[in-house]
Amino acid sequence: MPNLSGYFSLCLDPADYTAVAEALQAELPLPQTLLSAVPKRQSLYLTGRYCAREALKQAGWTPQPEITTGPVGEPIWPPGWVGSITHSQTHVSVAIAAATAYRGLGLDNETPMSEKTLQAVKDKISTPSERQKQPQNMSEQVYYTLLFSAKESLYKALYPTVRRFFDFQAAELHQRDAGRFEIALIETLHPELPADQCFPVYCQLAAEQIFTAVLWQTAD
Ligand SMILES: CC(C)(COP(=O)(O)OP(=O)(O)OC[C@H]1O[C@@H](n2cnc3c(N)ncnc32)[C@H](O)[C@@H]1OP(=O)(O)O)[C@@H](O)C(=O)NCCC(=O)NCCS
Repeated sequence: MPNLSGYFSLCLDPADYTAVAEALQAELPLPQTLLSAVPKRQSLYLTGRYCAREALKQAGWTPQPEITTGPVGEPIWPPGWVGSITHSQTHVSVAIAAATAYRGLGLDNETPMSEKTLQAVKDKISTPSERQKQPQNMSEQVYYTLLFSAKESLYKALYPTVRRFFDFQAAELHQRDAGRFEIALIETLHPELPADQCFPVYCQLAAEQIFTAVLWQTAD
């Protein structure tokens, strides 16, 4: 993974959701829409904002930022920064980069999908060509979870520019060589994001967590 300006990650125990939500509400604002959400949602949201604040601090941003939420749930970063938030049941991670270096950044964390989920979503999340290119050294579960996660990371990285929904058929994952992946647009999403544009995908494949990051670098 290239050097980002800030990265902060925390593990959460589901037994602590209520306590975490209460403790973090004392120092971070909870949006109106989440006031009556379940403790799990409140604690994951607030832990994401806490990690975002710490990642920005790490990057040298000293003002106390309030990272609000846009109309479809996208985080609104302070001017001059791009970033991304992801949470699973037990992990929350945030990465931050300077907007001078990156146009967009997406992070995603998934637990490998069950056989039942895999069969239900496989055709929806992959293109015919991706279905023919499963690497031999990767199980079906890991491959399709990686593919799903990389596309969600891409979505988060590009949404602030595209500003509309685009689905899983809009891009295709390619393996360049062992362990190196990139994702290419199949359709033009924006005048600055033409079909065939490629983005590196950084991934960490562990038995219980699959983690991906997609970075859109500024043109040199
Ligand atoms: C938005 C989406 C990508 C979020 O992914 P997820 O796996 O459900 O959830 P994660 O925990 O990884 O991430 C949630 C965080 O994503 C961020 N997020 C939500 N919508 C976002 C958007 N439109 N753009 C960027 N970030 C967004 C938020 O910070 C959210 O956390 P918060 O609500 O606590 O602030 C997903 O729900 C979705 O809509 N996917 C369909 C679109 C898609 O992936 N298309 C494929 C294109 S090839």
